[in-house]
Amino acid sequence: MPETPSDSRSACTCVVGLQWGDEAKGKIVDLLTEEHDVVVRYNGGANAGHTVVTNGQTYRLSLLPTGVLRPRLRSVIGNGVVIYPPRFLEEVSQLRSGGIPVGDNLAVSDHAHVIFPYHLEEERLSEQGSEQAIGTTGRGIGPCYADKVGRICGIRLGELLHAQHLKERLRPIVERKNRILRALSPDARTFDADALAEEYLGYGERMRPHITDTTRLLHRALREGRRILFEAAQGSLLDVDHGTFPYVTSSNSSPAGIWSGSGVPARNVGRVIGVVKAYTSRVGRGPFPTELNDGPEGVGERIRRVGREYGTVTGRPRRCGWLDAVATRYAAAVAGADELAVMLLDVLTGLSEVAICTAYELDGQRLDEFPGDAYLVERCRPVYETWPGWQEDISGARRLADLPTPARRYVDRIAELLNLPVRVISVGPDRQQTILC
Ligand code: IMP
Repeated sequence: MPETPSDSRSACTCVVGLQWGDEAKGKIVDLLTEEHDVVVRYNGGANAGHTVVTNGQTYRLSLLPTGVLRPRLRSVIGNGVVIYPPRFLEEVSQLRSGGIPVGDNLAVSDHAHVIFPYHLEEERLSEQGSEQAIGTTGRGIGPCYADKVGRICGIRLGELLHAQHLKERLRPIVERKNRILRALSPDARTFDADALAEEYLGYGERMRPHITDTTRLLHRALREGRRILFEAAQGSLLDVDHGTFPYVTSSNSSPAGIWSGSGVPARNVGRVIGVVKAYTSRVGRGPFPTELNDGPEGVGERIRRVGREYGTVTGRPRRCGWLDAVATRYAAAVAGADELAVMLLDVLTGLSEVAICTAYELDGQRLDEFPGDAYLVERCRPVYETWPGWQEDISGARRLADLPTPARRYVDRIAELLNLPVRVISVGPDRQQTILC
């Protein structure tokens, strides 16, 4: 990919989604790995789904950074990530059985918080049949982050390496959790503290070679002039502070999370690549002004089918719709995006017309800015601009000039509406199916 000049103070890059997740960030991270030495995940947990296709082989990761597919790189899971140890171990063993070595190259923060089965149960009881359900991935993410900021029940990964300490910490925590779970439902599953301690001490032992002070590791890497790539999970519109609260995830999925979730100060991030799909998708509940509910023969269903828009983690069908320039422009501003990567352009091939939402209408007023509140976004109606579609297969395009004129115009319009240059256009899942602009 074309490099943006950077001095040593701003040698880091961040790849971040500007929608509600699933923007195919993994492919951009994969393309950038050659120019970086370290890849860092700073937020989320096993709720993320990264699918990367390399040399015809598909890899699906939910917790590990995409960087692990390139063992030359150091892959880091920062303190801002929440770890479900069985999932971590499962992904490591999947990679190893696929012939990808995982050893010293993978470091996990001793300060990352740990997901326990009571987190999964708490989430299940809060989500099931509840009117307040968020439509989460069910991976214990929210309850674990709640315990982190609540401080009383949070347990960090490094604590799994100290047997006596863990047992003593878990006893009052599990007792408290059992009381809460029973209050949520008389049928709740409850837990035995000592059995959990044994189980998690076992995970700690297996993870020991990877557990370290990653903040120090990253500071050392910066001093040595290493180039660090931050890989955001989810999209900026799911950011707990800046997204469509409460229909968000529980971490700062925008680059706002880098500093707190890795210990690397923001001033070191010299390049932010905002990744957008050529359309929009969303999983779970929450406002989505450009959603297309136009039936089994409609455009929404067609995008879902052609784009294979089903959750990587949960398999849920994703809600699909037109590109929303209002929401994406807001996300780009929050993220501090310097440039854009437009993904899955090929999915729109074959449509007679394509549309972009350029403004909203709320209570008879035109809005050009994204409202900060989900209950207002819910009431916004999209104002569309339509453009001619294209019929030619573009999956073999490798240069801008290979794209049919309507496809180029569509991409130009995205750049114009977001006021950012488009540096990458993706026309298929493979690494090669990429246009660098
Ligand atoms: P949680 O992160 O599992 O708590 O889910 C909160 C919201 O974020 C739900 O709407 C999820 O569908 C959504 N979400 C979480 N992770 C992802 C992701 O990787 N892609 C898209 N949506 C996600």
